[in-house]
Amino acid sequence: MNSNRPARKQWRCATNLVHGGTHRSTFDENCEGLYLTSGFTYSSAEQQEATFTGDVDHFQYTRFGSPTVAMFEERMAMIEDADYCFATATGMAAINLALMALLKYGDRVVASRALFGSSVFILNEILPRFGIETVLVDGTDLNQWAEALGRPTQCVLLETPSNPTLEIVDLKAVCELAHSTGARVIVDNVFATPILQKPMQFDADIVVYSTTKYVDGQGRTMGGAVLLNDDKLANDAVLPYFRNTGPAMSPFNAWIQLKGLETMAMRVHRHSENATLVARFLENLKGITRVNYPGLERHPQHSLAMAQMKSGGPMLSFEVAGGKKNAFAFENALRLVTICNNLGDSKSLCTHPATTTHAKICEAQRAQLGITEGLLRLSIGLEDPEDIKEDLAAAAKTVLG
Ligand SMILES: Cc1ncc(COP(=O)(O)O)c(C=O)c1O
Repeated sequence: MNSNRPARKQWRCATNLVHGGTHRSTFDENCEGLYLTSGFTYSSAEQQEATFTGDVDHFQYTRFGSPTVAMFEERMAMIEDADYCFATATGMAAINLALMALLKYGDRVVASRALFGSSVFILNEILPRFGIETVLVDGTDLNQWAEALGRPTQCVLLETPSNPTLEIVDLKAVCELAHSTGARVIVDNVFATPILQKPMQFDADIVVYSTTKYVDGQGRTMGGAVLLNDDKLANDAVLPYFRNTGPAMSPFNAWIQLKGLETMAMRVHRHSENATLVARFLENLKGITRVNYPGLERHPQHSLAMAQMKSGGPMLSFEVAGGKKNAFAFENALRLVTICNNLGDSKSLCTHPATTTHAKICEAQRAQLGITEGLLRLSIGLEDPEDIKEDLAAAAKTVLG
């Protein structure tokens, strides 16, 4: 057994979430084994040599691959319907791995500007240092995509729905434009999760996750994943970068996240149902000037969202009248919902993107993205939605009257 091998695909998604990739040791354990070891032993020097030449399938070193992580990778690949999965230490390590494996000096990246703050940092600060040009477009505007992709481009990066303003990118149309210029499309699918959206069905080439979020699902461990189907890209570009630069997920985190996957579908559907109820409630709450939630009919891209996703998803954001002062007062008045910049937890979490996840982006860019001083992001948890609504209503009453 080795990591990163093409996955088996014999079951339906719900079954894959529970059983996919499980390999039992000779002890016949029922729960997936947790293998904490840096290295692996060989019965002979010859076996060791054959392992390094690739003639023998045997684990070598946990930076390259290990049994618990391999089970996690295989399960993720089965869920995404991908041939390859590379599990990483964090979501950012996954995004960095995908970009670095694809790009070289002189290349060009086109990306939607509504991205997680650290992704913007990689595009704007790191890639240009290596002679890579980055162009940011309004991801909701197909004319801007078409214009930017009118020149030779190697890579497209996008998030849909985006963090934190829940913008939707037309996956099919952008993949078509990108492929016509030879670019490969990387989709950060964190907000939708593989339960609600499968970007490869719309021709995306690579899907990346922060598995810290809905895969773990209970705010315990960090992780990431890069998923793809292209043999050459996986074996000649991603694998060597992965093995030699060391972004691998730890076996312990993989073990926790294997357990997270078992309940992911149930959790994500419940998160999304709760988010829909809360979004509808916020729409009618005094002092809330805007609600960003793709499941709402009044979201400007509602029909596109519903064509790409099974439901509105677990995340939303909203604007409190009165700017930062009132947004902070609103957060401080919450009693059930916790102030926390993580997302994808069973507990409802609230953050102020302008001073946290998107604080490093300049003010003008934030304004362009709709990340105002009054904007709050909510990761809707698994609590009773009535309790979440009551908490938000009480905070709104305290702050906004
Ligand atoms: C959309 C999105 N992509 C990537 C990341 C980065 O994930 P991680 O914190 O696991 O590195 C985050 C983190 O919040 C995110 O929201």
